[in-house]
Amino acid sequence: MNAIAGRRPTESPLPIVIVGHVDHGKSTLVGRLLNDTGSLPEGKVEALREMSRRRGMPFEWSFVMDALQAERDQGITIDTTQVRFRTVVRPYVIIDAPGHKEFLKNMITGAASAEAALLVIDVQEGALEQSRRHAYLLHLLGVRQVAVVINKMDMCDFSVDRYQAVSEGILGYLSEIGVTPSAVIPVSARHGNNIVQRCRHMSWYTGPTVTEALDAFTTAKSLADRPLRLPVQDVYKLDERRIVAGRIESGHLNVGDTLTFLPGGRTATIATIESWNEATPRTRAVAGQSVGLTLDQPIFVERGHVASLVAARPVETHTLRVHLFWLGHEPLTIGSRYTLKVATAEHDVTVQAIERVIDVEDLSNHGGDRVERNGVGEVILHSRSAMVVDDFIEVPRTGRAVIVDGYDVVGGCIIQQPKADEMPARNLITTSHTVTPEERIRVNGHLGGVLWFTGLSGAGKSTLAMALERELFRKGIQVYALDGDSIRQGLNADLGFSPDDRSENIRRVAQVGRLFAEAGVIVVTALISPTRADRALARRIGGRHFHEIFIDADLSVCEARDTKGLYRKAREGLISEFTGVSAPYEPPVTPELTLHTGGQTVENCLAELVAYVERILIRPARHGGA
Ligand code: ADX
Repeated sequence: MNAIAGRRPTESPLPIVIVGHVDHGKSTLVGRLLNDTGSLPEGKVEALREMSRRRGMPFEWSFVMDALQAERDQGITIDTTQVRFRTVVRPYVIIDAPGHKEFLKNMITGAASAEAALLVIDVQEGALEQSRRHAYLLHLLGVRQVAVVINKMDMCDFSVDRYQAVSEGILGYLSEIGVTPSAVIPVSARHGNNIVQRCRHMSWYTGPTVTEALDAFTTAKSLADRPLRLPVQDVYKLDERRIVAGRIESGHLNVGDTLTFLPGGRTATIATIESWNEATPRTRAVAGQSVGLTLDQPIFVERGHVASLVAARPVETHTLRVHLFWLGHEPLTIGSRYTLKVATAEHDVTVQAIERVIDVEDLSNHGGDRVERNGVGEVILHSRSAMVVDDFIEVPRTGRAVIVDGYDVVGGCIIQQPKADEMPARNLITTSHTVTPEERIRVNGHLGGVLWFTGLSGAGKSTLAMALERELFRKGIQVYALDGDSIRQGLNADLGFSPDDRSENIRRVAQVGRLFAEAGVIVVTALISPTRADRALARRIGGRHFHEIFIDADLSVCEARDTKGLYRKAREGLISEFTGVSAPYEPPVTPELTLHTGGQTVENCLAELVAYVERILIRPARHGGA
């Protein structure tokens, strides 16, 4: 095996960022790093030297960066912002190469996320305002692996005193923001001193060279090992399947895992991980992969929801305290409204308070009613929709947000220790009823229950429900029929016939039915409730009160009856997603009772229903049971 093959070519590079004041030599350092690690294409430097000679100007190492920049501008280099090099230890990618005009924005919005940083400071000038601002940014972004590079040592005759003075200045600043650099390296980028090779003019320095310092950094805890976060990008229908699509930002998932979707907290189990052009279906996926999932239940999920595992959920809240870096031309002010983007979610937020405005230069902070451009502040944002977020250090992707005003990114923020809402409505404590179920049964002479009629439109659900209501009422029973058509004009007037809306329709009616049943009433529901999953949900909600009754009639029978004229309209394409015609109906597998309305009279069916109610809900009451 040759040396190259032995180098694990697939090893992913450590993303680093090089920050510091504009003239302190970042580009020269990058040029040198690329050259001295042998990462430049053959002949590149010679060509640049030759070009300088022709133009009669001295060669500078920053020309390497300029050349790369020019190639990028001409579209020659495909990657627009990233520069790669490798040491003998591992590959690196310099993200957002210095000088890139979107640098601050990309860092703050997470378009670029570094795991380590070099902070470059000119020994002649020390840590100027911009160096401090960048250092503060590293602190804000949680980049804890930092090495300081004190550059241009040749300009001060490699003076140890000068080095020490500058190094003390920056160390003082960094320690105040909680950043401990792994090294403070005196270098001359121009001459290649202490970049890869040690410098004989600075024998007083015994610390690492730049590449040694880089190689000593560690790779962050892999995103795959963090809690699962799958921000939903889209939910779409393919055949009869509903696919929840998104990119796994952290953690991993397996078929069979139960996911919680926030906001809301609905849960469902992963039925499949859809794969295209793959021989064997995938059963597992990890951070970085985009997936399409099908779930065992058609719960309501939409873009912006975040799927997680039950055990490690993100925080759901309406109020956030954020550490914010402001990029807007107009200052941020109390009461202003912006759009806050967290992963795939968007929220309308209002600036509720500005807690602190931080002067990044001297780290003083004060109250204030505005954060100016390039300023940093701690701000409270309030949203009317529930936001799903994490602590930035724990889960970076859902721990940061971008603030948008119209189409412009005006700020980036880091979320620290988010807290769930303290809403009275969420502190739910169930108070016990003073009337017991037994007392209700004794007074009513029967049990409460939910008789859940399911079947095609026109199968006879409403007819039988109303007939049963009348017959049971005649017998002195507390009974009420809930019919799909009428509930859809009131309680569920906001719902249509999409699978999600049907699920919600059924969930609400199941909840209402359960309340009726607990009140001691026998409630008869007449909803198509076409899917097994939705009926399973209704059964879970109704618990012991729930009875599934299949009002069975062939489609042809229902269509011939066409009591409401809807089948004709559906066939003419005037109604979309019409059950039986253009939307599915899944017959029950083990209903408590099935009535075949195709071959029987209404009276016969009614008699069967009454007999069932007698047996299940009336007779047990006489024997004192619930
Ligand atoms: S369910 O599918 O969500 O259970 P539900 O029983 O409430 O449906 O409502 C069905 C009634 O709505 C039908 O009896 C019919 O009168 C009317 N309707 C209107 N459009 C549709 C449709 N696309 N599919 C089924 N029923 C429809």
